[in-house]
Amino acid sequence: MCKIYLAVLILAIISEPFAAHGCIFRRRAKRVHIVNLLPENSQPLKLHCASGDDDLGFHDINVGEHYEWKFCPSFLGTTLFFCHFWWGPKEATFDVYDHKNTTLRKHLNVFAAKSDGIYLANDFNESSLLKHVS
Ligand SMILES: *[C@@H]1O[C@H](CO)[C@@H](O)[C@H](O)[C@H]1NC(C)=O
Ligand SMILES: *[C@@H]1O[C@H](CO)[C@@H](O)[C@H](O)[C@H]1NC(C)=O
Repeated sequence: MCKIYLAVLILAIISEPFAAHGCIFRRRAKRVHIVNLLPENSQPLKLHCASGDDDLGFHDINVGEHYEWKFCPSFLGTTLFFCHFWWGPKEATFDVYDHKNTTLRKHLNVFAAKSDGIYLANDFNESSLLKHVS
């Protein structure tokens, strides 16, 4: 009985990176959510996100809209996603998920673009947003 359980567990670990929508162990799944909270009538927020393995492409996010993706961090602990943002006259590039950094290793990283900068929170409560870059 125990052997069977172990075999299933090993199979799950091996196949996890290939599972649709990321993780077989849901607890390990990560989510990055980027929302455009720029003033009405602003140009769309532009972004380009990637990791070492995945290029998520360029996206235009209209005011009030969002872009998000979910993934399963590698067992090697090396998963890192970064994004290049363009909003109004500004631009910035920074890491949005870094498994080696406790601040950026959360289950949910919410980045919100506002006219004075990009904010970060780990929930969907607007009062949790803290200025991340100006
Ligand atoms: C971790 O990420 C935070 C937020 O981006 C950053 O301020 C901090 O310098 C990083 N820490 C390390 C050790 O890189
Ligand atoms: C949002 O955060 C504030 C301050 O931390 C808290 O008082 C409030 O209850 C939170 N709202 C929700 C819906 O979690």
